[in-house]
Amino acid sequence: QQPGPLSGRHVLITSGPTHEPLDPVRYIANRSSGKQGHALARAAQALGAHVTLVSGPVTLPDPGGVTLIKVETAQEMLDAVLDALPADMAICAAAVADWRAATEAAQKLKKEDGGNDVSLSLEQNPDILATIAIPGPQRPDLVIGFAAETENVVDNAKAKRRAKGADWIVANDVSHGTGIMGGDATRVHLVTGAGIEDWPSMSKDDMAARLLARAAEALPNLRSA
Ligand code: C5P
Repeated sequence: QQPGPLSGRHVLITSGPTHEPLDPVRYIANRSSGKQGHALARAAQALGAHVTLVSGPVTLPDPGGVTLIKVETAQEMLDAVLDALPADMAICAAAVADWRAATEAAQKLKKEDGGNDVSLSLEQNPDILATIAIPGPQRPDLVIGFAAETENVVDNAKAKRRAKGADWIVANDVSHGTGIMGGDATRVHLVTGAGIEDWPSMSKDDMAARLLARAAEALPNLRSA
């Protein structure tokens, strides 16, 4: 552990997509690479924090010096996150699948069984960020979420901040053509209780370092009751 402004602090980070099984060979997933979440974990570690990184399936190398918990589904991610609490700060950067199959087939689904029109019955996954942000003794002092939006980026992020009970929301425009989803660079708006900051385009590593520096500065003034 290196000394730094987050020495002695526990920072919990979610990263990557989740995989929601349909049957033993198929799953629902999304295009999240985990680059942003893993960059946040490295940035927190570089500032001296003890980092727990709960990651969905990614192809990135394991970051050294952090406690890495690998999961597949949203439910496993929630369980791992709740197990890792308490934390001083939580950053939810994972692109958690909103839905999972209502039932996971025990055997591979067969084309012959479905005919031409097959429908999937989905049910909602737990919202990990909203669960972490519920007020109580286990709530981290600073809870940060991400909002990947394709329109009305800042307004949607403000609404998301309130709806989920997060302290800060990092909002970015992932519409087709921005190259943010899966790319190395990002352009974000930081939505806090005090207002909106428009940050310039920068690498996901630089954004992570800047966000963690900001968070380290804010944390001492945020001790919750
Ligand atoms: O609602 P939406 O998915 O746009 O919210 C994004 C934020 O909420 C991200 O911080 C994401 O990590 C978090 N989230 C979560 N659990 C979910 C869905 C989203 O933690 N089931």
